[in-house]
Amino acid sequence: MHDKSTGAILSRTDLNRGQEGDQDKAKILVVDDNALTRNLAAEMLFLENYTAIEAESGIAALECVQQFQIDLILLDVLMPLMNGFEVCRRLKQDPRTQLIPVVFMTVADDRASRVKGLEAGGDDFISKPIDRLELIPRLRNWIRHKRLNEDLNQTEQALFSIAQALESRYRKTDQPSDRLVQLTEAFSHYLQLDFADIQNLTAAAHLHDIGTVAIPDAILLKTGQLTAAEKAIVEKHVLVGERLCRPLRNFRGLLPIIRHHHERWDGSGYPDGLQQDSIPWLAQIFQTLDIYDALTSLRPYKQALDSPTALQIMQQEAERGWRNPDLVQKFRQFLQTRSC
Ligand SMILES: [Fe+2]
Repeated sequence: MHDKSTGAILSRTDLNRGQEGDQDKAKILVVDDNALTRNLAAEMLFLENYTAIEAESGIAALECVQQFQIDLILLDVLMPLMNGFEVCRRLKQDPRTQLIPVVFMTVADDRASRVKGLEAGGDDFISKPIDRLELIPRLRNWIRHKRLNEDLNQTEQALFSIAQALESRYRKTDQPSDRLVQLTEAFSHYLQLDFADIQNLTAAAHLHDIGTVAIPDAILLKTGQLTAAEKAIVEKHVLVGERLCRPLRNFRGLLPIIRHHHERWDGSGYPDGLQQDSIPWLAQIFQTLDIYDALTSLRPYKQALDSPTALQIMQQEAERGWRNPDLVQKFRQFLQTRSC
């Protein structure tokens, strides 16, 4: 049966979707421009009670993963228009699909393809012609692995939601951190950071102040000067946040950002009084974004400043020794490119 909207070919196993117990059946996408190889693999999967979905090209495969909840992909390497490496690279760069295990189907002893497959983020290889006794145990392992990762991912999502709820205590918009998230992504791309750094910074945009859960509203929303004791409570939010986010295995680079996003260039910040380049680079970048966002946002205790005024304050803070002057300068240039 040919699905014209995606260019994918759905196997007969897929036609059984909706029957009792099918929601627990793993869905495996078989991608190969050779119909014979594809059908043989799908037949093996059918016999093992998996739902097999077939795609005849890399482009069809990318459409399929948007349409179905795929648990694993069996991916051919050599295909016209878009080869398997490129398909894999795109899947692994997309947070929505990066957890799907990709098993390349390669010719035995094709070492060059295996190296390229690993570089593209592939998880495993199986030799063609496919041996059913080799294929099935591997699939079982990878599907179990993927489902464990999904459970962890749900924990991450729960933390993101808690952080958002906490932020709504002092933000006055419907979608609290969206603006900071967008700004973070745009500045990260402007600085040409790599994918992992962008992911960690974006996670920081959501989670950096999750430690404010430990700050009572009376202190968090106070309009007057904080006492020394109140200040000490506020400053603990970076340590509480770091502890809360420690179990997030996918965002290891997030922890130094959370811990150090209130350090100052001259060492007068907290919690560790780090100076200059001993402050982690991503924490410096995130701090720049966080300060600009805070200055230009409306809060219960302050008005939103316009962009030139916020930049002027950041410049004054750089001259005072609190901020990395080069980074503030880069951020100014970045904002100018956005207003052009
Ligand atoms: Fe903070």
